[in-house]
Amino acid sequence: MLQDKDRIFTNIYGLKERNLNGAKMRGLWDNTAEIIARGPEKIIEEMKASGLRGRGGAGFPTGLKWSFMPRESDGRPHYLVINADESEPATCKDREIMRHEPHHLIEGALIASFAMGAHQAYIYIRGEFIREREALQAAIDECYEAGLLGANAAGSGWDFDLYLTHGAGAYICGEETALLESLEGKKGMPRMKPPFPAGAGLYGCPTTVNNVESIAVVPTILRRGGAWFASFGRPNNSGTKLFALTGHVNTPCVFEESMSMSMREMIEKYGGGVRGGWDNLKAVIPGGASCPVLPAHLCEDAIMDFDWMRENKSSLGTGCMIVMDQSTDVVKAVWRLAKFFKHESCGQCTPCREGTGWMMRVMERLMHGEAAVEEIDMLLDVTKQVEGHTICALGDAAAWPIQGLIRHFRDEIEYRIKNKPGIAAE
Ligand code: NAI
Ligand code: SF4
Repeated sequence: MLQDKDRIFTNIYGLKERNLNGAKMRGLWDNTAEIIARGPEKIIEEMKASGLRGRGGAGFPTGLKWSFMPRESDGRPHYLVINADESEPATCKDREIMRHEPHHLIEGALIASFAMGAHQAYIYIRGEFIREREALQAAIDECYEAGLLGANAAGSGWDFDLYLTHGAGAYICGEETALLESLEGKKGMPRMKPPFPAGAGLYGCPTTVNNVESIAVVPTILRRGGAWFASFGRPNNSGTKLFALTGHVNTPCVFEESMSMSMREMIEKYGGGVRGGWDNLKAVIPGGASCPVLPAHLCEDAIMDFDWMRENKSSLGTGCMIVMDQSTDVVKAVWRLAKFFKHESCGQCTPCREGTGWMMRVMERLMHGEAAVEEIDMLLDVTKQVEGHTICALGDAAAWPIQGLIRHFRDEIEYRIKNKPGIAAE
């Protein structure tokens, strides 16, 4: 378990001053110019040594991603874009950074931008995050006043501007290329990849898109060293991370822990246990709506990291868990997710546009026990037709929860069809 001295986010609950003065007392903005003076290569090497994998859900190695930015760009500007569109159902960790620890993000943005040759960075924040936007803007303003942003930012010799812009409520704008389209003032629709943003991103220029937490941990990693960060968790899954517990736990919360801790320990230590005790657990969705559900017997030994989840046919995602006790109608819960993805599909590619509607409608009939048993396999087949055949990951995200449901709760679906309990949809 993580000790207090190893926590990066020491004001995650907002109990201390979140302003510049408070941030400095917690060690931020301390000789930032010295970190920058190490030069881009050393900074990127340190990030690689830390083993940090993107905290937005996909887990792509951050240092490696930074290294994709070209050194020479024929005069084209480079950009850092910070994805603060946190919209994954149950995911609420970046919000706490923006509310209570904004200086981690701003100092991280300066250092990361310098390392990638960017004089400008954009934070694209979810439209509904009004208070978070206010907190972040206030922090940006005080940094400009203190000379930490703008010309010769923090006395580093690097000119750097940071802009805050917001979305308007579309989940798909959290997908990095849809986000770039939206930032350019267009309708938020994902682009085909490749090219990846490092080759052609914002306004066609070299761009790196990183999640809020991935950037917010940068100052601490560079102060304490990549090896320090890598000493937490298992190889390939290193570092500390913000996790969250929602649903049927006694004390829902966001907390920082070491990667690779057991799920049960997290639920018991931070969530106050499952409502009604561990034996009352039915299932957990480990990291946001797109991750396949895990039944209770797998949760017993589950390790909260990328590799364990992959080996057990789920994914860590954002590490923000949805805990469901025995009272949960898991078929209905997954139908609800299917409805969400259908609603949020941008509609530009056929397998997703048509498939999410199909999946939702079949799920609805299964939920009511009105389908034939054979339709379970037909639904599974539809998920396979969608998975991997779409422009962006939303298609996969819609398919995976249903695959997880069928894998682990087929008996429950069949029982419903055979006994027709007549559950009413909301
Ligand atoms: P991805 O795996 O396609 O890409 C991850 C990152 O790595 C991207 O920045 C991409 O540009 C980069 N990348 C991947 N392969 C690359 C290559 N060969 N060369 C250069 N760069 C490369 O995943 P994606 O679509 O960005 O994210 C999907 C994940 O997002 C899901 O697993 C889900 O967990 C998460 N998600 C999180 C949300 C949130 O609110 N935090 C909302 C919705 C989804
Ligand atoms: Fe749009 Fe869905 Fe295609 Fe993504 S997969 S581009 S959300 S239609």
